[in-house]
Amino acid sequence: MKQPKRYLITSALPYANGLKHLGHLAGAYLPADIYVRYLRSQKRDVVYVCGSDEHGTAIPIQATKEGTTPQAIIDKYHEICKQNFSDLGISFDIYHRTSEKIHHETSKEFFTALNDAGQLEIMESEQYFDEEANSFLADRFIKGTCPNCAYDSAFGDQCEKCGKSLSPDELINPVSTLSGNTPIKKNTKHWYLPLNKHEEFLNNWITKEHAKDWKQNVVGQCKGWIDGGLLPRAVTRDLNWGVNVPLKNASGKVLYVWFDAPIGYISATKQWALDNHKNWEPYWKDNDTQLVHFIGKDNIVFHCIIFPVMLKLHNYILPTNVPANEFMNLEGDKMSTSRNWKIDMQDYIDDFVKKENGGGQCVDMLRYYLTQIAPETKDSEFTWKGFQDAINSELVAVFGNFMNRTFVLMHKLCNGKVPPLHSPIIDEIDKELINKIEQSPKKIATLIEEYKFRDALFEIIDLSRKGNQYMQKKEPWIKAKQVAADGSIDASAQKEIDNCLHICLQLCANISILINPFLPNTSKKMLHLMKVVDKLLDWENAGKLNLLKTGYSLRGPELLFRKIEDEEIKYQLEKLKSNILNSKKMKEEVQQTIQAPTKPVIQFDDFTKLDLRVGTVLACEKVEKADKLLKLTVDLGTEKRTIVSGIALHYKSEELVDKQVVIVANLAPRKMKGIESQGMILTAEDKDGKLRLLKPEEAVQPGSAVS
Ligand code: 2FM
Ligand code: ZN
Repeated sequence: MKQPKRYLITSALPYANGLKHLGHLAGAYLPADIYVRYLRSQKRDVVYVCGSDEHGTAIPIQATKEGTTPQAIIDKYHEICKQNFSDLGISFDIYHRTSEKIHHETSKEFFTALNDAGQLEIMESEQYFDEEANSFLADRFIKGTCPNCAYDSAFGDQCEKCGKSLSPDELINPVSTLSGNTPIKKNTKHWYLPLNKHEEFLNNWITKEHAKDWKQNVVGQCKGWIDGGLLPRAVTRDLNWGVNVPLKNASGKVLYVWFDAPIGYISATKQWALDNHKNWEPYWKDNDTQLVHFIGKDNIVFHCIIFPVMLKLHNYILPTNVPANEFMNLEGDKMSTSRNWKIDMQDYIDDFVKKENGGGQCVDMLRYYLTQIAPETKDSEFTWKGFQDAINSELVAVFGNFMNRTFVLMHKLCNGKVPPLHSPIIDEIDKELINKIEQSPKKIATLIEEYKFRDALFEIIDLSRKGNQYMQKKEPWIKAKQVAADGSIDASAQKEIDNCLHICLQLCANISILINPFLPNTSKKMLHLMKVVDKLLDWENAGKLNLLKTGYSLRGPELLFRKIEDEEIKYQLEKLKSNILNSKKMKEEVQQTIQAPTKPVIQFDDFTKLDLRVGTVLACEKVEKADKLLKLTVDLGTEKRTIVSGIALHYKSEELVDKQVVIVANLAPRKMKGIESQGMILTAEDKDGKLRLLKPEEAVQPGSAVS
């Protein structure tokens, strides 16, 4: 296939509303980075753009949660995410922000052009409105039950559980996330992109033109959408956070976040071009550009249906491919931010990369495992045990071991120099490995260009496995035992040793090129040990058998990877468990505070029926065979009451004597453990379940009424 002139690679712009987890990394960022690093090593013209998605309801919602402003939220999380990606080796050419002026301008131009060309429709409709918050309930401001999978916390734009894109009207039992109230309907005007008018184009373009070269999960999802019939899609919102709609009659309205976010790819390209004295236009306008969007499966509809229609109407190029990944689960359950069942990039960086024995090798260990289990065709599963096994039994025992043995033996048996290749004595075993070295780059390149990163990585590890097997067959350490009369290694044995280690060293050099897109730090370390410059890593060098010159002296062996210890895995598993417990506890606390005021309203008359009085405790003792009960004798001024109260776990009996308490004095008596309780003592329950007595601020006459 003819090579395109240039590539524009994008990774989904993550919302700057929180930390991003390893599922995100594996879905849209790591595969794109591998692809881009590969293209760069091929010396192709490639630009890789990404950045923060800083609009939409997700941002103000997080601001409310953290008690701060939307601006503070995007500033905070933009910086953290940018740093996290950089720490894990994701090599964007630019990590931009949708809050930048250039983005607002680009988005407005886009909207204006479509509107002026009559490609948008204005419609009035009734939409959900929260009267208490005085706000329309766009997207995540409204929650309800998903009509598709019955998940009870689906958002108004999408169900996070099944991934279905929704409109608020589809939610069952909708509730405002701003106040918890059931919303009313109110009339409002919006601009719509009439997707229904573009069905034929989409059908031809996706299900015919790209039926074969796009991933089946992507084509399948799109086909489902198109077959179900497309509807006009609102591209504006009643919100005060986002890109203002650039029209006079649209105050209080902003562009829908999914209208402006993908335009973020364009504004990021513009900014990159400005920063690098380049022209951005060919990347979006010239048909000889290959545009590839790396995303997770929940973003398919936006990148394959809505954005392409916008691009086409704007005369921009369409994506060549959208290699969306499925989801990565964690230890048997879906990764979830709300349940805190996840491993954040920041967690991995803190626990591995920044530790004493961490650094680049730990970055590459993660990149290795995430690629090995990439959810390319179906959901996959991250387990800490799987991580440990992958590192210890593949990276350490196969890959690292091959490189290490080669270096150790070359130093021991060849004076630390690249030995010569004695061509007349090359045998079948040598030839087999040489063929493999020569043929692998093409095979691996094809897999990468087909977005099959998992298979490509397998091939590279397999090369080092073949290297180990080769060495095992050749046994240079046994040959070294054949010695001449002067004690040196027998000359013909030495030739065989030379050949073996020469080929193994050329294989190491080849592996450093092939593994570079996947494990760039490892590649760098291999270059260092081989004392060669970065230039070696050009893909065109892969497959050659003269990468290391005969007689060249190399550095001593160093281990490429450390082992992952059992304690590290145990610690991570415990951390996961405690995260989820903490999050459950936090939710329960929030639930308690939310639930407290939700009893049904009563009338004043109902309240006055209660006879609340202050009493003084005269005596107190534990009730036999009842852990929780105390029996109190309470002075009510004109009478003494016996009251049984469930506070024994919270107060010792002697603590209560002489204390004042508030009691419900006209509660019908009831028997508890054979004792008649003649009233009830009032307590308040703390968030940790602890009971505290209510009492007057200063002592009052026993029997005083409480009102
Ligand atoms: O799902 C998300 O996190 C979105 N912020 C992705 C946007 S991708 C693109 F369109 F910018
Ligand atoms: Zn659902």
